[in-house]
Amino acid sequence: MKVVCPGSFDPVTNGHLDVVARAARLFDQVVVAVVHNPSKHGFLPVADRLDLLRECLPADLLDAGRVEVDEVPGGLLVDYCARVGAVAVVKGVRGATDIDYEQPMAQMNRHLSGLETVYLPGDPSWLHVSSSLVREVARLGGEVSALVPAPVLARLDAAFGSP
Ligand code: PNS
Repeated sequence: MKVVCPGSFDPVTNGHLDVVARAARLFDQVVVAVVHNPSKHGFLPVADRLDLLRECLPADLLDAGRVEVDEVPGGLLVDYCARVGAVAVVKGVRGATDIDYEQPMAQMNRHLSGLETVYLPGDPSWLHVSSSLVREVARLGGEVSALVPAPVLARLDAAFGSP
């Protein structure tokens, strides 16, 4: 079975990588799909987010075609999932705030096409990690090296300077 892990991935964090790796243990194929969310002010260009994902996801899973990286070119996520043959969306949830955010989208996707959403509980190591907090802390000179993979750290250092 194929599933889609959608998100902004602006940038990818260790929390995202954990969710994708765990999804790949449950499902045959995982498409990590970068969606440009117009309600969010973007930090990295989508092309850079895709490159970083390809650099940071496990090479064995990418090489085997078990995990792939793609861009959702616009339109509804349910239409994208139908096009790529995905049976469900997989989302990591760090707590009640994430569930409150995800739930209307999950219900709307079921309403639109019957597309299911599978929630994976966030790993305790990464419950405080979000792309937006990582960007803010890095911008203000804080230490984020334990929260993101090395290529992302290099990109943040290039954007904001090392602490
Ligand atoms: O990482 P994010 O930005 O919180 O992810 C939200 C995302 C991209 C999954 C959501 O905005 C989405 O599914 N967008 C695609 C457009 C769409 O289908 N909108 C209606 C969903 S109910």
